[in-house]
Amino acid sequence: MTTLPAVQAQFAVSSRTQYEAAIERLREASQAYEKGVSVLDDASYDQLRRSVQAWEQANPGEVSPDSPIELVADGAVPGGDVAHTTPLLSLNNAFDADDLMKWGASLQSRLGRAPQGGYAVEPKIDGAAVAARYRDGRLVQLITRGNGSHGEDVSHVIGQIDGLPEQLAVPATVEVRGEVAFTQEQFEKANEVRAAHNAQVFANPRNGTSGTLRAKDRPYRLQMTFWAYGAVELDGVSFLPAGATHAETLAAVAAAGIQTTADSPAGLHVVADLAAAQERVDAIAAMRAGLPVGIDGVVIKMNDTAEQAVVGVGTRFPHWAIAFKLPAVERHTVLEDVVWETGRTGTLAPTAILAPVEIDGSTVTRATLHNPADIRRRDLHIGDTVTVYKAGDIIPRVQGAVVQLRPEGALEVPLPEVCPNCGGEINKAQERWRCAKGTACALPALIEYAAQREMLDIDGLGKTYVAALVASGDVSDVADLFTLTVEQLTKAAKSAKRAAKLAEQIEAAKALPLSRVFCALGVLGTGRSMSRRIARHFGTMEAIRQADATALQGVEGIGPEKAPVIVEQVAALAPVIDKLIAAGVNMTEPQEASAAEGAGPLAGKVVVVTGRMSGPLEAYGRSEMNTLIEKAGGRPGSSVSTKTSILVAAPSTGGKPSSKAVKAAELGVTVLTPEAFAELVADFLA
Ligand code: IVH
Repeated sequence: MTTLPAVQAQFAVSSRTQYEAAIERLREASQAYEKGVSVLDDASYDQLRRSVQAWEQANPGEVSPDSPIELVADGAVPGGDVAHTTPLLSLNNAFDADDLMKWGASLQSRLGRAPQGGYAVEPKIDGAAVAARYRDGRLVQLITRGNGSHGEDVSHVIGQIDGLPEQLAVPATVEVRGEVAFTQEQFEKANEVRAAHNAQVFANPRNGTSGTLRAKDRPYRLQMTFWAYGAVELDGVSFLPAGATHAETLAAVAAAGIQTTADSPAGLHVVADLAAAQERVDAIAAMRAGLPVGIDGVVIKMNDTAEQAVVGVGTRFPHWAIAFKLPAVERHTVLEDVVWETGRTGTLAPTAILAPVEIDGSTVTRATLHNPADIRRRDLHIGDTVTVYKAGDIIPRVQGAVVQLRPEGALEVPLPEVCPNCGGEINKAQERWRCAKGTACALPALIEYAAQREMLDIDGLGKTYVAALVASGDVSDVADLFTLTVEQLTKAAKSAKRAAKLAEQIEAAKALPLSRVFCALGVLGTGRSMSRRIARHFGTMEAIRQADATALQGVEGIGPEKAPVIVEQVAALAPVIDKLIAAGVNMTEPQEASAAEGAGPLAGKVVVVTGRMSGPLEAYGRSEMNTLIEKAGGRPGSSVSTKTSILVAAPSTGGKPSSKAVKAAELGVTVLTPEAFAELVADFLA
C-alpha cells in the first residue's frame, strides 16, 4: 500500500520532461488557487516548487523561459485592470531554523553590517491579499494582488469586511495593504448561508475568501475580516509618520480605525534578534489551533524602514521580510470509504476512512464526519480528493471535496438504511441519526461501560457475562443489574462462586455516589467529569430530574446547545431511573465530595495533564489523574489556556517539548513534573 496520495508520488524532478511537467502543474495549481480552488494542498505545492527550484539551480542553462518560479503568484494570475501604486509583492519562505539563519546572513551581506532595528514578528494570515485605498478617510477602492503589478477591482465587497471600515475617523489618504480572510466563525456561518442557497460549501476558509472576492453576482453577502500588514502612500500624500518603523506604521493604521495583524491574538512583537524571532514563531505556532483565524506561517520583517530600503526588494518578494511556514494543518487525501457505528447512546456516527496522509506530525487515516446532512452539504463522494484538517490535539475532520479532482463515475457517500449495530430502523428526525431503539441498541456496550471501575465498579462483569445477560433478556437496561437474582447471575457466569462475587459487587454499587450512577446511565455528553459536576451541582437525582435547560446551564461546561439534549434524555430515562430508585440505589451525592472543591491544595485550580506520568504517579492513567485532581480540590482541564493554573508534564528529554508545554510557557502557566505534582497532592495519593 502506498502511504502517500497519488498527488505526492509525482514530485521527483530529475529530468527535463519531469521539469516541464512540474512547471505546468505549478501553474495550473496556482491558477486554480487564485480562483478559490486547491487542486494541490499547500504542503504538496511547496514541495513541488522546491523540487523545480532545485532542478533550475542544478541546470541553470536549461531554465525554461516559461518558468513561473521568478514571478509573483508563480505567474498564475493575469494582471487586472488596476495598476498598483508600488508592486504588491509576495513573501519568500523559510521552512526551518536553518533557513531563517540563512536569511539573517543575506540581510547582513546586503546591509554590510548586522541589522540594528530589530524584527517585527506577526502572524501570516491565510487568506487573500488586498490593497485598500482610502481617500479623505473614505474607502474608495479594493484591489486584489493580481500579478503584483496589476490587480482586479473587488470594491463590490466593501462593507462586507470587518476591520476595514468604509469611513475612518480621520480624513486620511492612504493605501492600506493586508489580508482578507474568513474567521472560523464567519466560515461556519458562510457555509450555512451557502447551504441555504444550495451553493456548494467552501472546502476551506482560504478558498472561500478567494471565491468571495471574485464573485460579483451572489444573491447573498458573506462577512469576512481584514488584518492590515502594511501601508503605502497614495496620491503622493504621506499619511504615514516619516521614518516610522513597520510597527509604528501599523500602529498609525490601527489609530485610524483599521484592524492590523497586531490586533490578532498572535499580535505583533518587535524582537532584537533572530533567536528571539524564532521563539516568537514557536509561541505563535503553539497558539495556532486556538486562533480565531487560520494562519499558515509567521512573518518576520526588519522593523526599521531605513534598513528595509537598503536591503531592498526582488521581483517576487522583499528581501527584508520572510515567511516562516508552519506545518500544514490541512492536506489533501483520498476518501476511500465511510464507516458507520452506533455509539453507546444510539447515535449513528460516520467516520471517513482516508488514504494515509501526514498532517501536523502524525499520520491520519480516519477523520470525523458529522452527520448525513453534513455529508450531503459537503457533497462528498467515495474516491474524492478531500481536504482534511487537523491541528494539535484536534480530532481530524474532513472539510470538503475538491470537486475538480473527482474521479468519473464517483458515487455519493452512501447513507445507512438500517442501524449498523442491530440492523433495525433508524430514527431520522434530527440531523444526527439515531437507532430507533436508542440506548437499547447498543445495550451490551452500555452495560459494559456502566460496569467499569469509574462507574458502578462491577469489575467481574465482563463482556461474555454481559452478552449472556442481555441475550437471556434478564438485562434490558442498567437498572436491571440491581434486581438480578443469584440464579440468573449463576446462569450467566456459569459458576456459583463467580455469581456470588458479582452479587456482592452489585450490592456495593447501590451505595456509590450519585455521580457514578448518573454517569452509568450513558446520557449523551455526560462523561465522568461532567457527571460529577452535574451531581455536585444538584445533589440529588430528583433535583436533576426537575432541572430544566436553564437550570442545567448553571453547571460549568453546559451551554445552551447541550442543556436541552440532557433534559430530553433524562426525561426519556425516567423508567430506568424509577427502577434504580425502587432497587434501593443511592441517589444522592455525598457532601464530602462537594466540600472538596473549596478545600485541598488544588482549591480553585485548573490542572491539565500531558504525557506519561512517572515517579509516585507512574501507575496513574488519565482518568486516575482526573480523580486525584478532583480529590485535591481542583478541576481537570483538557487543554492549556489562560484559565489553566498548572500543567503536569514529564520534562522533555532533549526532544521537542509537547505543544501543551510550549503553550504553558507562552502563557506563563506553572509547569510541574509528575514528581513535583505528587508532592503537592501527597495527602491524596492512594
Ligand atoms: S507582508 C511586501 N505580512 O502572505 C510584503 N504578508 O505568501 C508583503 N500575508 O502576499 C507581504 N499575512 O498576502 C505580509 N503579516 C503578513 C501577512 C502576509 C499574510 C500574505 C500576503 C502575501 C502572502 C505571501
